Amino acid sequence: MNADGRTRLNQTPEWTALVKHREELGEVRLRELFAADPGRGSGYTLRVGDLHIDYSKHLVTDETLRRLRELAVATDVFGLRDAMFRGEKINITEDRAVLHTALRAPRDAVIEVDGENVVPAVHAVLDKMAGFADRVRSGAWTGHTGRRIRNVVNIGIGGSDLGPAMAYEVLRGYTDRDLTVRFVSNVDGADLHEATRDLDPAETLFVIASKTFTTIETITNATSARSWLLDALDGGQAAVAKHFVALSTNAEKVADFGIDTANMFEFWDWVGGRYSFDSAIGLSLMIAIGPERFREMLDGFHLVDEHFRTAPAESNVPLLLGLLGIWYGNFHDAQSHAVLPYSHYLSKFTAYLQQLDMESNGKSTGRDGKEVDWQTGPIVWGTPGTNGQHAYYQLIHQGTKLVPADFIGFAEPAAELRDELKAQHDLLMANFFAQTQALAFGKTPEEVRAEGVPEELVAHKTFKGDHPTTTILARELTPSVLGQLVALYEHKVFVQGAVWNIDSFDQWGVELGKVLAKRVEPALTEGAEVPGLDASTRALVAKYRELRGR
Ligand code: F6P
Repeated sequence: MNADGRTRLNQTPEWTALVKHREELGEVRLRELFAADPGRGSGYTLRVGDLHIDYSKHLVTDETLRRLRELAVATDVFGLRDAMFRGEKINITEDRAVLHTALRAPRDAVIEVDGENVVPAVHAVLDKMAGFADRVRSGAWTGHTGRRIRNVVNIGIGGSDLGPAMAYEVLRGYTDRDLTVRFVSNVDGADLHEATRDLDPAETLFVIASKTFTTIETITNATSARSWLLDALDGGQAAVAKHFVALSTNAEKVADFGIDTANMFEFWDWVGGRYSFDSAIGLSLMIAIGPERFREMLDGFHLVDEHFRTAPAESNVPLLLGLLGIWYGNFHDAQSHAVLPYSHYLSKFTAYLQQLDMESNGKSTGRDGKEVDWQTGPIVWGTPGTNGQHAYYQLIHQGTKLVPADFIGFAEPAAELRDELKAQHDLLMANFFAQTQALAFGKTPEEVRAEGVPEELVAHKTFKGDHPTTTILARELTPSVLGQLVALYEHKVFVQGAVWNIDSFDQWGVELGKVLAKRVEPALTEGAEVPGLDASTRALVAKYRELRGR
C-alpha cells in the first residue's frame, strides 16, 4: 500500500489475475481464436465518430478484456478522467489543471479552473485567431511595404511545432495553395536557412510559437528571423509589428522580444505543449486551412472527448486501446508500439505521436513519488505504408520482437487527386489489409511446402503470425477525422498513465538537457572552463574546437 492509499499496481489482485491469465493463455494462436469464434472478425469492433476500430487481431479473449477493464476500475482510470474534465489539478508535479479538452468545447460549455469558467476565454482567442487568419488569407493584412503575405513561417519546437506541422501536412488538400507555409524547429541554422532562402521577406509572416517564450531554440531562431527580415526591410519595430506574431502564455517575454502583445494569441498553463495544437498554437494551421475547417477539426476532437467521457467501459475506444497497450507492455514484454498510417498525408503523424506518448508516459516515478517497478510508456515509431513495408516490416513479421501496431487507413483517396492517382488507392489499401492479415495469421510450414518450396527454405519462408494489430479505418481523411484521431491517441495515453500511476503531464526529463546545453555552450564558443564537465565530454569539446580551428 502507498502513502496515497493506493495499492502498488503490481500488487493489486487485478494485476496478479492478469499475470495468471497470461500464463494460462500461453501462446495465443489467432488462427485458433478465429476458428473458435466465427463472429470475431465483426464482433471485435467498435465505432467512434467516423472511426471504425477493429481489434479482432489482438492476442486477447473476452476474459482478457474483462480482466483488463477490471484493472482500469481498480486503478480508477475513470475517476482521474472525470477529475481532468472537471479542471482539477491532476498535473500534480506542476500543480496544474489538464484541460486541452476545454480548447474544443462548444461555446456554451462551462469548464472551471480555480472557480473561473475558461470557455469564454478559449472562444475569444479562437475568434481573434479567426479574424487574423481571415485577414491574412484575404490579403487585408499586409506586410510593412504594403505587399500581401504569401508565406507563413511557424517557428517553434516540440509541441509548438510537431502538432501544427503534422496537421498542416495531413490537411494539405484543404489548404490555400497560394500560401507557402513552413515550419522551423531545429536550432541548427540550416532549418531556418532552408525555410527562408527562397522567400521574399516583404511577403513573409513569422509566427513565433512558444508556450513559455523562453525555449532557447525558438528564441534563437526567432531572433535570426528578425535579423533576416530587418536586413531586407528597413523599418525596425514597425516592420516587426507587421511580420511577427506570437503564440504564447507569456506576454511579458513576448513584449521583451519586441512583438506587440496586440499581435499575441494567448493560451494557458493548463494546456500542455504536446496537447496544444488546437489552441493558439494552431494559428499557422488555421491560416492555411481557414477558420471553418479548423472548427471542424476541433469538433472532431470534441466528439471523441465526449465519447471518452461518457461511453461505458465495454465500448470506450481510448480505454480499449490504452488497455491493449498495457497488455503487451506489461504482460508480453513488448517494448515498442508501431503506428503505421496508410496515407501519405499522415507522414508526420507518428512523429507527432512520439512526443504525445513518450513525453507523457516516459516516466519511472509514480504519482506517489516512488519508483515504479512495472514498465511504462512504449517506444512509439513508424512511418507511412507502403514505404515501411520495404524497410522494417521484415523485423515485425519474422524478427524476435513483439511489435504491436496500429494500422490507419481510409476508404477514399484524397479528393483532389487526378483519376489515375485515385485509382492507385485500391493498391495502397490492398497492402493495408494484406499486411494485417499476414501479421496475424502468418504462413505455416505446411502452407509453405504446399507451394513447392524446397525443404531447406521452408523455415525461412514460414511466418509465425500472431503479431497483434489494431485497424483504424475511416471513409476519408477530413479535418474532423484528424481531430478524432488525435483525441483518440491523447486519451489512450491518458488511460495508460492513469493505470501506471504516473503524471502524464509533466516533462522533467527534458529540462536537464536544456540546462546542460546552456552550461556547455561557453566551452564551445570561448573555450571556457565549465565546472562539472566530465572527462569524456571535455575531450569531445576540445576536439570540436580543434576541428573548428578555434
Ligand atoms: O520538449 C519540452 C517542451 O517543454 C515541450 O513540452 C514543449 O512542447 C516544447 O518544449 C516547447 O516549449 P515552448 O512551447 O515553451 O517553447
